[in-house]
Amino acid sequence: MEANMPKRKEPSKSLRIKVISMGNAEVGKSCIIKRYCEKRFVSKYLATIGIDYGVTKVQVRDREIKVNIFDMAGHPFFYEVRNEFYKDTQGVILVYDVGQKDSFDALDAWLAEMKQDLGPHGNMENIVFAVCANKIDCTKHRCVDESEGRLWAESKGFLYFETSAQTGEGINEMFQTFYVSIVDLCENGGKRPITNSSASFTKEQADTIRRIRNSKDSWDMLGVKPGASRDEVNKAYRKLAVLLHPDKCVAPGSEDAFKAVVNARTALLKNIK
Ligand code: GTP
Ligand code: MG
Repeated sequence: MEANMPKRKEPSKSLRIKVISMGNAEVGKSCIIKRYCEKRFVSKYLATIGIDYGVTKVQVRDREIKVNIFDMAGHPFFYEVRNEFYKDTQGVILVYDVGQKDSFDALDAWLAEMKQDLGPHGNMENIVFAVCANKIDCTKHRCVDESEGRLWAESKGFLYFETSAQTGEGINEMFQTFYVSIVDLCENGGKRPITNSSASFTKEQADTIRRIRNSKDSWDMLGVKPGASRDEVNKAYRKLAVLLHPDKCVAPGSEDAFKAVVNARTALLKNIK
C-alpha cells in the first residue's frame, strides 16, 4: 500500500554559500557588488578597509541560497586581514580593470595568494571563479581586450564576463551564472562542472596564442631564429597553422593569432632569397 502512494516532493534544502571578491585595489570590486545588491553606482573611490561583509538571499531553480559576501580590500597593505578569509569559499569574483594592464597581470598573483593561504591541503578545484573584466564603459582607455581576458579565464576553467559597475552591463548575468555554477558544483559533490569552453581548446593552443601576442617581431612570432631559411620558416608556419587554424581552434584570440602568423610568414618570405 505504502509503495503505491504518490511520493511527496521533498522541499529543496536551502543552501548557505561563501563568496569573496579578489583583485587589485580600485578595479571596482565593491562597486560590482553594490551595483548588484543595491542597484546603484558610486563614482567616488572609497577604498575598502580590510573586509566588507554582507548577506543576501538569491533563488536558484528551486533552492534558496543564502550568500555571505566578503568583499576584500585589494591594497597590499591588507594582506594580513585578507588571509583570514580565504578558507571555506565556494565562489570567487576575480576582478581586473580593462584599462589597467597591471591589474590583469596581477590575477595570477591573486590566485597564488589564495592558494598559499589555503595551504597544501586546500583545493582550488572545488571553487567557482568568475573573472570580471570591469570598466568596459571606459572604451578609450581599454588596453586588455576581450580575447586576452577570456583566454586567461577559460584556459583555467573559469567563467569570464565583461562588466561595467557604472552602467550595470554584464553584472546581473555574471551573478546569475556565478550562483547557478556554485549550486551545480554543490550538487555535483563539490566538483567544478566541466564547462564547454574549458574543454574545447588545449593548453598548447592557449600558450601559443599568448606567445604570439607577446612576440617582438616576425621571427619571434614563428619561433625561428633571425636569418632562418625559407624551409625553416615554412615548416614553423605549417606547424602553427595546423595548431591555430580557425576550423580547428576555438580558443579566444585564435583567429587574430592565425592572421598574425600568416602575415609574419609573408613578410619574412619576401626578404628571404
Ligand atoms: P579596493 O576596495 O581598494 O580594493 O577597491 P575596489 O576594487 O573595491 O574598487 P571600487 O569598487 O571602490 O572602485 C574604484 C573606483 O573605480 C571608484 O572610483 C569607482 O567609482 C570606479 N569604478 C568601479 N567600477 C567602475 C566601472 O565599471 N566603470 C567606471 N568608469 N568606473 C568604475
Ligand atoms: Mg572595495
